Amino acid sequence: MSDREVLRREMEQTLSPPGERPDSSTVITRRTFLHKSLLYGTAGAAAYGLFPILNTIDLAFGQAGQSFKFAWISDTHLYPKNVNTRFVEKAVRAFKEVQEMNPPADFLIFGGDLGQLGDPVELQLGADLLKEVKLKKVFIPGEHDWYLDMGATWNKMFGKAPWSFDHKGVRFIGLDTISHAEDFWTARKMSAKDRMGHMATLDGTLGGAWAGVGAEQLKWLNGALASWPKNQPVVVFSHNPLYEYYPPWNFWVRDWREVHEILKPFSNVTNVHGHTHQVLYNEIGKMRSIGMLATSWPWPYAPEGLPALTQPMIRADPGDHFDGVGWSGLTMTANARVENEYKMWRKEVFAVAPPDSGSEDNRNQILSPRLADRI
Ligand SMILES: [Fe+2]
Ligand SMILES: [Fe+2]
Repeated sequence: MSDREVLRREMEQTLSPPGERPDSSTVITRRTFLHKSLLYGTAGAAAYGLFPILNTIDLAFGQAGQSFKFAWISDTHLYPKNVNTRFVEKAVRAFKEVQEMNPPADFLIFGGDLGQLGDPVELQLGADLLKEVKLKKVFIPGEHDWYLDMGATWNKMFGKAPWSFDHKGVRFIGLDTISHAEDFWTARKMSAKDRMGHMATLDGTLGGAWAGVGAEQLKWLNGALASWPKNQPVVVFSHNPLYEYYPPWNFWVRDWREVHEILKPFSNVTNVHGHTHQVLYNEIGKMRSIGMLATSWPWPYAPEGLPALTQPMIRADPGDHFDGVGWSGLTMTANARVENEYKMWRKEVFAVAPPDSGSEDNRNQILSPRLADRI
């Protein structure tokens, strides 16, 4: 057995002891159905056509709580209006739909990549469009918002992460997973625009494994959860997934093992993340991760490492820029279950795959490709 295989086995034993899953009382249901969007009232069905609810995931938190809704929008990737209005149109539509949610959402989490190249014009445009949403709004940054001026404009306009707040029995946490890139620019004497340009590519080129939580924030996270009861729900928002999906595209955080160590004592942890722009679901130990859609464009699935628990969506029609994108409405039901509903703007969304493969038992799942261990 190679050293890497030994390490992989050891990690799987540590992270996923036999029978360990998020909340042992939970049954995951995957309901795939189409329904006419009557939820959206007069402006709804005719204008938007069919809204699929796909990959609906019920998360049993095991504790009675109050029913409430919240919404996630991310990855709008706005360009200045004189460059491109396509992404503006979709952001406007998503903001409008969130505002029209009925019953209303208690808050909107914006999950990063508001702008495309961190241009203050883009971020201001985003802030202006977001005025349509009159709800409480909380923000975490994406790499596209950050690397032109290292977060100066973002922090001023939208506030600093990390943060936490409690809402109706749930502790919500927002992390910054994007500001910890190794400095690849100073020695190369790059301009701020060059630096941003390299960070705005999918494969990271010079940016490398930039996604991470960092020692200081890990300490903060530990403190933020220190007094929280172990069986109370915790929802962690992050731009990047808090596990290893595909490191070459930074579909991970490099210190996800340390994150997991901190979250491990809690039985009801849900990570909701952006950045991957696709339908995505995974479980690592007791933590669930749900990937959100972008409003801008869908990324392809990574060439390897797709979690076995994900039922992938089909490739979007490149001629239809409303295909494969959208936002999410999340509900914490009265019996303390959370449902994630992907609000997509087109109906043909699922790839053909063995139904519910892996959803009954994740012991056969390869948790991740461990690409980082190969690098
Ligand atoms: Fe993005
Ligand atoms: Fe991103």
